Amino acid sequence: MIPCVMCHRKLCYHGRDGAASGESLRGFDRFSLKRLRIWYTRRMPEIIDLRSDTVTRPTPEMRKAMAEAEVGDDILRDDPTVLRLEELAAELLGMEASMFTASGTMSNEIAVAVMTRPGDEVLVHADSHIYNLETGALAALAGVQPRIVADENGSYDISSLEKTIAKQGVQLARHSLLCLENSFHLNRGLALAADVYAGAAAAAHRAGMGVFMDGARIFNSAAALAVDVKELLKDCDAAAFCLCKGLAAPMGSILAGSRSFIDEARRIKQRFGGGWRQAGVVAAPAVIALEKMAGRLSEDHENAENLRRGMEGLGMRVDRGGVLTNIVNLDVSPRITGAAELAGALLDRSIKVKVCDETRIRMVTHNDVSGEHVNRVIQAVSEVLEK
Ligand SMILES: Cc1ncc(COP(=O)(O)O)c(C=O)c1O
Repeated sequence: MIPCVMCHRKLCYHGRDGAASGESLRGFDRFSLKRLRIWYTRRMPEIIDLRSDTVTRPTPEMRKAMAEAEVGDDILRDDPTVLRLEELAAELLGMEASMFTASGTMSNEIAVAVMTRPGDEVLVHADSHIYNLETGALAALAGVQPRIVADENGSYDISSLEKTIAKQGVQLARHSLLCLENSFHLNRGLALAADVYAGAAAAAHRAGMGVFMDGARIFNSAAALAVDVKELLKDCDAAAFCLCKGLAAPMGSILAGSRSFIDEARRIKQRFGGGWRQAGVVAAPAVIALEKMAGRLSEDHENAENLRRGMEGLGMRVDRGGVLTNIVNLDVSPRITGAAELAGALLDRSIKVKVCDETRIRMVTHNDVSGEHVNRVIQAVSEVLEK
């Protein structure tokens, strides 16, 4: 028997891929191949992936919707599924219009490019995604300079903010945009109530600045605070959220704002190479994400809380600051020397987590993590600590 072209074994479960590119299927009929694959899969322990909520896989309903999606050409604005998604998203956010984009990063950077001019200064949080994890796009794409504001809890000190933005002069950069993030901090997931940033947004508006919300996980915040998403965006001129995180769609993000903002955002999206054609194929699962997945996020929060309690029960320290969502931030130092050591031991038990630094681990619950999985994780951590 000729070995599989993928794993070089004579007997494996890569049947179809092997068959497509080589000879490993020789001697197997379809039925025996299926049985072989089932046998192999049952022997493999199920992987619990807590690295992020970005690892969620589309639900069977989403996959069906993708296959059956009615499509058109989105650049020509005649893809009916994209139009439906954008209408639905704008309505949910309480904004005039919205635009479907490929990613949260793309939405954020389009928003900044529309709301500023090159040479302007934008105010960003020290721990924000837009400042730390978008490859310097603020400078590279929008030509703006960030002014960093440090506040551990996602708020702004109003008096120092006012002092900063009041400064004007021929030598100074124009302050044009205040950036917010909710849930705040991708390794902590703090849900911020609207009054946490209402004062900062008002100060920015008084100074003639725009206010943009990176709401990649804003539906998590709304669920944790038991408020409508509209309430969290009432002081924002524009906002973005992600479809492929807790909402479990395979990809995409929504950018929303006034109609004139979105008209200009479409031009910038095109300039950034983000124009797409039969995007209805990916808009269809996104519609399901909005209609069905936003309503189940509190399940993820409950699982996260059980995980926190379990970790505390094992003597770990967990981040308890503020209203928490689906992100568990764990300090392992009271029980084990290094975060990487624990992550490695968990990986041996088919559990994946994210190492944030020497002592911190992030675990994120999502649609593919059940209550039973959470119990398995607690059990696994307990085994590692006992060793
Ligand atoms: C707060 C926040 N904003 C923006 C993004 C970017 O989203 P994407 O990965 O879709 O570009 C992320 C991704 O994790 C995020 O956590």
